[in-house]
Amino acid sequence: MTKLESSLPATTRRHDVPSYLDPNHLGPWEIYLEQVERVTPYLGKLAYWVETLKRPKRILVVDVPIHLDDGSVAHFEGYRVQHNTSRGPAKGGVRYHQDVTLSEVMALSAWMTVKNAAVNLPYGGGKGGIRVDPRTLSMSELERLTRRYTSEIGLIIGPDKDIPAPDVNTNPQTMAWMMDTYSMNVGKTATGVVTGKPISLGGSLGRSDATGRGVFVTGAQAMQKIDLPLEGARVAVQGFGNVGNAAARIFFDHGAKIVAIQDVTATLYDEAGIDPYKAQEYLRAHGTLAGLEGAQEISRNDFWSLPCDVLIPAALENQITEANASKITAKVIVEGANGPTTPIADDILREKGVLVVPDVLANAGGVTVSYFEWVQDFSSFFWTEEEINARLERVMKEAFNGLWDVTERHKVTLRTAAYIVACTRVLEARALRGLYP
Ligand SMILES: NC(=O)c1ccc[n+]([C@@H]2O[C@H](COP(=O)([O-])OP(=O)(O)OC[C@H]3O[C@@H](n4cnc5c(N)ncnc54)[C@H](O)[C@@H]3O)[C@@H](O)[C@H]2O)c1
Repeated sequence: MTKLESSLPATTRRHDVPSYLDPNHLGPWEIYLEQVERVTPYLGKLAYWVETLKRPKRILVVDVPIHLDDGSVAHFEGYRVQHNTSRGPAKGGVRYHQDVTLSEVMALSAWMTVKNAAVNLPYGGGKGGIRVDPRTLSMSELERLTRRYTSEIGLIIGPDKDIPAPDVNTNPQTMAWMMDTYSMNVGKTATGVVTGKPISLGGSLGRSDATGRGVFVTGAQAMQKIDLPLEGARVAVQGFGNVGNAAARIFFDHGAKIVAIQDVTATLYDEAGIDPYKAQEYLRAHGTLAGLEGAQEISRNDFWSLPCDVLIPAALENQITEANASKITAKVIVEGANGPTTPIADDILREKGVLVVPDVLANAGGVTVSYFEWVQDFSSFFWTEEEINARLERVMKEAFNGLWDVTERHKVTLRTAAYIVACTRVLEARALRGLYP
């Protein structure tokens, strides 16, 4: 028995860790497995099917060769993982990052299964990624990379099979290339194959800020539950990309004070509050947050102990760990990123009385508006931004309140509540359908 297997509960041990992962370095997949272990006692008879959740349905690993601008050929490793399709087609983003691993894409795809079920969207979970630092490629190299990757995974994606979307370091332009490449291969324009597209290509109004808006809506609901006023609340945000930037702007628009921002380039602190619109403009002009007028630059580690009321991790996984969880001063953590908190850190936060709005709920605004985009593409009938934001707000509030009831009924955290509701929905579908899909 390996070191990891002996440390895992018997239910996991009985089923070997798949041969394609290193059992001693399971990475983010281990965090996900632990989360499934924690929810299993609440699944009743459906626990019969729980092994289904512990392995992805389908994994495709592809070689992505491209010509670089200097005429040489470079090869990149690409993945598409479909974790579960019991409730509908797989759905989930595509990440470009030099540290992407199969374990990470597997975990991200599983979190999509849980997220889509937690907010009751008719999707399973999927995720994709390429092991590449996109900052080292020119625009035309990025286009060739995206098109070749899309051709390679074209075997398993499609508007009714698996629908990619943007994630870290991918954006509407990436989705436009993916949509075009897929469409060329099937001989017709298939807008519904990806979401997060530019508006002029069947994208949805409200999609670009949707994840940050969902972070705000669920964060504000959580604040209400503990009587923490929004006006003047001190908010610290890690990650100032699609999610962190929008969340910061929307909290700011509702009277909160953004006291800290951290991204790869710098960590800024200003007790009096940072204007996220100015920070956004500054970042666009200078390519870094360092040097923003009025804000003090502090060390990366000090970010976690800053005085604040709300903390929004919106960068990558594994940020809130055993090493920094006890230093956190926030009363509410709203997980914009996927998997930012390790299970041990989760326990520390629970003991400290910090209310954590888990990723599978907090950042579900993005996939919710992606779902709206997909529906609009199928009907070729597009809604106004007001309609979209109102529907998004309704879905997020209903999901939050439904999960809050479960936390009270079972005396569990919001994360466990989300897993109870989501895994029950997924496994109910599994039980009704049988061993397929
Ligand atoms: N884009 C979406 O719609 C969406 C939806 C749901 C969840 N998410 C999750 O939100 C997170 C952020 O995604 P995004 O789309 O905003 O990506 P992005 O590429 O737009 O932004 C990522 C941000 O994180 C910062 N960052 C990266 N590494 C960091 C580090 N080590 N320390 C501090 N900052 C760091 C970057 O500088 C950048 O500001 C990811 O976990 C992603 O999976 C995104």
